[in-house]
Amino acid sequence: MEKIQIPRGTQDIMPGVVELWQHIEEKMRDLCKRYNYQEIRTPIFEQTELFRRGVGETTDIVEKEMYSVVSRGEGNFTLRPEGTAGVVRSYVDKKLYGVPNQPTKLYYCGPMFRHERPQAGRFRQFVQFGVEAIGSADPAIDAEVISVAMRLYQELGLTGLSVDLNSVGTVEDRARHREALIAALNPVRDQLCEDCQSRLDRNPLRVLDCKVKKDQQLTQNAPSILDYLSDESKKHFEDVQAYLTAIGIPYTINPRLVRGLDYYTLTAFEIKMSEIGAVETLCGGGRYNGLVAEIGGEDMPGIGFAMSIERLLMALEKQAVALPIETGIDCYLVIQTEAAKTKVFQQVDVLRQAGIKAEMDYLGRKMKGQLKAADRVEARFAVIIGESEMEKGAAMVKEMATGEQEEVPFDQLVNWILAKK
Ligand code: HAM
Repeated sequence: MEKIQIPRGTQDIMPGVVELWQHIEEKMRDLCKRYNYQEIRTPIFEQTELFRRGVGETTDIVEKEMYSVVSRGEGNFTLRPEGTAGVVRSYVDKKLYGVPNQPTKLYYCGPMFRHERPQAGRFRQFVQFGVEAIGSADPAIDAEVISVAMRLYQELGLTGLSVDLNSVGTVEDRARHREALIAALNPVRDQLCEDCQSRLDRNPLRVLDCKVKKDQQLTQNAPSILDYLSDESKKHFEDVQAYLTAIGIPYTINPRLVRGLDYYTLTAFEIKMSEIGAVETLCGGGRYNGLVAEIGGEDMPGIGFAMSIERLLMALEKQAVALPIETGIDCYLVIQTEAAKTKVFQQVDVLRQAGIKAEMDYLGRKMKGQLKAADRVEARFAVIIGESEMEKGAAMVKEMATGEQEEVPFDQLVNWILAKK
């Protein structure tokens, strides 16, 4: 029979690598506790309408990348391409704006799906860790959200990262800028790439984010959004910068930073790593002051970011950061004679219940084979039980690294091993 292949753009996370994921997840949860963000788990699929409205009709995500299904006469559903829309839907649905604890500070970690062309750091299923703070328009929380991402990277051991920062203004700021932008780019319209020609009508800000060299040159002197911010928007942007400076987070203002999702207002940011190659954005986020209302809730401001664990792992690899992953077990129990098997089976159970990592043989190996197996699983001790041990009521414990041996009564095994840990 023909082998069945793994879907393109997905990956199996195998033992040996999954420990890295677990380590990152632990760090992330610990960090979120310190910053007082609580976990939320929303469905992996949502009504397609949520992303059309939330992420935006003219985005690549909605136009080209969604995995959608028509569900047996119950409507159209989509595997979530990102986490923010679902969190906001839930925030509205559960009326979280009404609970006393405000602002609402949430985090999530789970698989997202985008039908993209797979390449290094770009998957069709990837895991995003993200946070969303909803209910405060204070620029200090913009800086807090950015710092959560930066501190996670730093605590994991990445160095030299900097935040690309911009303000994309309010809807009103953008309308004024839009006019100026269209007026400035219309004369070169025919020379822009096909995508940008259509962007110019539908979402001109995104022309500034085009990756095509020629377009970048043509738009070099295009009006900057930063020149169209109202005094209030400008003040917000300056305050965010002041708070970032106050906690030592390095940033660079990049007036051409435009995010690929439509819900952003005011603060927009990305964290990049230059060495990462084709895909260099590790993390992206920003403020979305109109989104809650767009999804049917009260008009509440929000801000968040998301990063994928896949790109984080790539960054760690590029910078040769070794995460402190523990391997190995405490002891391997060796069955020296068939008569000792039940005793070994029982002892393994007792040890495990006491919090000790213990293993035994299930392949009928000879003693030598069992000691090899103990080596392979990096057991610190081999606990050998045979006929004479059964008679004496004590096991022979051998430290694998030194070969040193000691007789330990069965009823003292747990404490003996715990004392060595
Ligand atoms: P995004 O920029 O579309 O924003 O994605 C955020 C991050 O997800 C990227 O910086 C990257 O780390 C990761 N990512 C995106 N696509 C892929 C992919 N195909 N393969 C691997 N990693 C990927 C959002 O999703 C927004 N929801 C962020 C946000 C939260 N804004 C406010 N709150």
